[in-house]
Parts: sequence; C-alpha cells; structure tokens
Amino acid sequence: MQKYEPNSKTRKNAHIGSIEDYKKLYEHSINNPEDFWAEQAERITWFKKWDKIWEWDFNKANITWFEGAKLNACYNCVDRHVDAGYGAKTALIWEGNNPDETRNYNYNELLEKVQLTANALKNLGVGKGDRVCIYMQMIPELAIAVLACARIGAVHSVVFGAFAPDSLEARINDSECKVLITQDTGVRGTKNDIPMKSNADIAVKKTPSIENILVVKRTGSPIEMVEGRDVWWHNALASSDAECAPEEMDAEDPLFILYTSGSTGKPKGVMHTTGGYMVYTSTTHHYIFDYHPDEIYWCTADIGWITGHSYIIYGPMANRAVTMMFEGVPNYPDFGRFWEIIEKHKVNKFYTAPTALRALMKEGDKWPNKYNLDSLKILGTVGEPIKEPEWLWYHNIIGKEKCPIVDTWWQTETGGILITPLPGVTTTKPGSATLPFFGIIPELLDDEGNVLEGNEVEGNLAMQRPWPGMMRTVYGDHQRFFETYFEKFPGKYFSGDGCKRDEDGYYWITGRVDDVIIVSGHNLGTAEIEGSIGGHPSVAEAAVVGYPHEIKGNSIYAFVTLRTGHEITEDTRTEIIKRVRADIGPHASPEKIQFTEGLPKTRSGKIMRRILRNIASDNIDDLGDISTLADPSVVSSLVDERI
Ligand code: WT7
Repeated sequence: MQKYEPNSKTRKNAHIGSIEDYKKLYEHSINNPEDFWAEQAERITWFKKWDKIWEWDFNKANITWFEGAKLNACYNCVDRHVDAGYGAKTALIWEGNNPDETRNYNYNELLEKVQLTANALKNLGVGKGDRVCIYMQMIPELAIAVLACARIGAVHSVVFGAFAPDSLEARINDSECKVLITQDTGVRGTKNDIPMKSNADIAVKKTPSIENILVVKRTGSPIEMVEGRDVWWHNALASSDAECAPEEMDAEDPLFILYTSGSTGKPKGVMHTTGGYMVYTSTTHHYIFDYHPDEIYWCTADIGWITGHSYIIYGPMANRAVTMMFEGVPNYPDFGRFWEIIEKHKVNKFYTAPTALRALMKEGDKWPNKYNLDSLKILGTVGEPIKEPEWLWYHNIIGKEKCPIVDTWWQTETGGILITPLPGVTTTKPGSATLPFFGIIPELLDDEGNVLEGNEVEGNLAMQRPWPGMMRTVYGDHQRFFETYFEKFPGKYFSGDGCKRDEDGYYWITGRVDDVIIVSGHNLGTAEIEGSIGGHPSVAEAAVVGYPHEIKGNSIYAFVTLRTGHEITEDTRTEIIKRVRADIGPHASPEKIQFTEGLPKTRSGKIMRRILRNIASDNIDDLGDISTLADPSVVSSLVDERI
C-alpha cells in the first residue's frame, strides 16, 4: 500500500510542525493529562476557572470536566471576538440552494441577531435548562437559533430536517421541549417546498410540552399559523430587546441533546455539556484542520447531525473561523456544485463525507476540472470508512496532490474527533484514520475484554480514558448510558466499532459490530426500522441488516415475515417503504425487502443477524455456524430467495 508523506508546504506553517512534535505533545497529553487540558482550556474564555480538571468513574459512567468553572458557549463563539475588535470580520457565509443566493454575517451582525433571538425565546418563557427543539433546513437562522439557546442556557435539541413527524414527535416528547423552532417550507435540490411547518404541526398534536412554535419565513409558501401558539420569527425578533447578557453556565451544565440511533429501542438523547465540549471541539478544530485566521472553512454536514454542531458551529466559531453553511445538495443544479462553491468562496479547508465523494466521483473528473480549486489546503472526511478509490480521487483530482487528507474517526457520543491524521504531520494511508488525537488512548479488545497488545491486531474499539468532549449521559436514562457504553467492557468506553491496528500502529475502522447501520454516513438503528415495518398490519416480524452499497457505503435489507393468511403483493412492498419513510424518514427506507416464511433464530428466540448479514451481502459460502438455530432449514430458503 502506498503511503503519502506529509506535505512540506503545509508543514511549514502548521500548528504542529512534525511527527516528533506530535509524539512529544501526545506523550505530554497522556502523562500529564491535567496539565495538557488546562493548557488547551486557555483557548476558551471562562467567567470563572475550574476547581478540578477531571473526575471520572467508568464503572458508574460518571464523568466531569472543569468542575466549578463558569462559561457561556455563545459568548465564546461570538461576543469575545467582537470584544477583541473582530466584529467586522466574516463569521458565517451561507450559500443557498440556488447558486445566486449567498448571505454573509460578520461577528457584529451575528451578535445582533443572536441577542434578538435569545430575547425572543425569553419572551416565550424559555429559561436556563429548558429544552428547545430545532427542526429546520440549513438556513442561517438554524445556526442563530442554536447560539441563542446556548446564550440563555436553554438546551437545544436539533432534529435533522428530513425526519418524519413521528420521529420529531418522539424526540420532542423524550426531552419535553417547551418551544419548537422551524421554518415555513424548505428548499433542497429540486425540492422546493419541503413541508417543515406542516410536519411540525402533525408532530405537535401529540407533544403536550410544546407551548409555542417559532417559524422562520424561508420560502413564503402558505402555511397554517395557530393563533396564540405559533409566532413568526421576524415578528418575534422585531419586538425583542437588542441586548441579552450571556448566562453564566457551569462547565457541566447541559449544552445540547442530540438523538442518535441505538442498537435497541428508541433513539438515545446523547447529552453534551458545556465546558469540556467547548475545549474539545475548539482544540480539535484548531489542530486537525490546522486552522489559521481568515481561512475559509467549509464543512458540508447538516447541523442536524453532530458534525454540524461540532465543526460548523461550536469548534470553528470558538476559533473565530470563517465558517460556511450550505443549504443545498452536491448534485444541484449539477454535479459541479461543491466545486463551484469552492471556487466562488475560495474555500481553504473542506470537510465532507465519503458517500458524497463516491457519488461525485462516479460522474467523472469533468465536473471538478471545470473549476479553480487552487484555494484548497486541507481536505477532511468523516462518517464512515473511506475506501481507496475515493480517497485517491479526493487526493488527486480535488486536492491536486497538494492537500493532506484528514480521515477523522469519531461519533455523536464522542462530541469531537478522536482518531485522525494531523495535516503536514502524519504520513497517511488511504482508508486509515491513522493515529489518536491528544489525550486519547484507543484500545482494541477481544470479545472477552482482553486488551490486544502490539500491532497487527483486530478487535473491538474502546477508549481507556475520558476526553473533555465526550457525552455525559443519555438524557433521562443514565442506566442506558452505562449499559450501552460501559457495561460490556468494564472500565472502558466501548464505541460499538470494530477496528484493526496495522504494523505501524495505524488504526483502520472496520465498521459497526452492533446493530447500527451507517447509511450514507447516517447512523440508523435496526430496531427502529424493524419497529416501523412491524407496524404494517400484514407484517408478523421483520429483521433489518446492512449490506455493502457502492455509493451509500451500506444500504438496508429487510427480511420480512407476514402474518398467516396475508398475501405478498407489490402493494405490501410499497406500503412498507412508505411506512418507514413516514415513521423515520426517507434516509431509513429499505433498498431491498425479502419476504420469507421464517427468520433464523436461536432456541431462545434471538434472531441471528450475522447469518442475515451474510445472506444480504451475498456471502453465502461462509454463513458461519448455524448449528445453534432452532430450525436450521430456514437458512436454505433464505439463501435461495435472496435478492
Ligand atoms: C459512526 C458514528 C462522527 C460524525 C458523523 C457520524 C462511523 C465515523 C468514521 C471514519 C470509519 C467512521 C463509525 C462510528 N464513522 N467516522 N472516519 N471512518 N467510520 O456520527 O452518526 O454518531 O456515527 O460512524 O462507525 O461509530 P454518528
């Protein structure tokens, strides 16, 4: 395998100048973690410093960082830059779905809008600790709403704008949000009337905690406004006071909740707190994107996911970056859109997902070749393993062989990047996330929890110690936090991923080892999809697995048994797909549905997904041990009838 040496031009100016410097600082971070994190915490402005750097007990899933400290996340992202004289500098560049729509906010303007919004929320009775649900497309008001919540100490829960009303409802109810912020309708690609407000209306029929809906006018399409409950954003801001002092928050006060799919049951409300998260996102953004003042930084993620929280808003803005936000999609109006935007805004740092690269690579080099991509300095990827072909395309065609690629491994739960190359520092190998970030001790464990020492080993990826940005609990269910991440391997944080360490000590993520499927970089729980399919009146039982897909990384394969007397018709198939789209969202709909008489179960009734995964992936020569099945004969018909 070819290795790619760090680029000397990047190195000259980089925050970390060599692999030796990385190793030195890494050792320091591991041997003197309290000193290291106290030093990094200097990049945050604290109203009061901490009493204690960290305290943790993985056996109880208790973790605190910077206990006793006071700060405000919004103040750190906005006010202090204005105070330091950078008010006229660009903070946010928004690129609309249609190429002629661009809006820029400098830090003065952002501060003005955020304060008005914060006061508008206060006028609706939102205070410190209250939960606010944000259900929007990628418009500037989404970032403003997030920062406004942080300003007043309200806990935001952003729900990705493609989620269906039922999913929105479940998320609002789980954390009992008081206010919902949405928009009239949304535009994305060729869709120009995505029903945001009307989806919200359906959801709030069954969310007793919602008192008001704040509605941004994006398209002007007609929507219903309920008197006394629904408030236009522009009206609310027009009658708000201009000044709103940032709330002094404890380091361990919740900053936000973000729902992620679990391997069982309902989605988990991943809860992040304030101090550690701000230190971790700003530190990682600084080093991993080697961010320097005035550089144009663009992360293409949606703010509905953790990548948008940590690396569009909090990390970059704490570092006074020029951060970009894009409303559209990579193939609208054509497959050159990303590259056109890079040329237009002279983007320096670009962070996207392997699935987008695969989709764009397929369309040929002519699209990127139409544009001037000389401004690019560093390229990043996140969300799923990147394979060699798209890595090479990214390196050669987009980066013109001069831009280091940072393949960043992390999770909603980790809050920030844990395993990654550093640009100009780390020799890269296509497909490897390479080495741990400062303070991180990855461990590979066998299924019994034994630590696999040395190189050339493969096992379950766990972390030996906490880091400041990690989640603190599952909202309302600390026991579930413990059981999901700390029970299987006592004393460690278990990621749910498999991983190997190669001869150079480099980490290679091999994918999920639990019942989570990563589709186009979106985290989906099999249980949630199975629940939705199982709600169809003809369905007796469903089992959902992932299988490799050329563009999406993985796609969804559903094995479905029908109730006795119910016939399989084309309608059943369409209805099932419709149901999943309506219950969860289009991103969760199964690509393949195989109707079957029976599912492979153990004598205790547990579905053996390993077998189904092999069938779905066409690995039929080695299905694995089927002797523990209650009825091994179901396997042969499953194999014969596979799609
Ligand atoms: C899962 C977490 C982190 C933000 C986006 C996804 C997979 C993530 C990589 C990578 C291989 C990766 C893992 C992880 N993943 N980054 N660089 N290489 N796999 O957040 O939805 O919480 O999903 O995404 O399987 O566990 P998420």
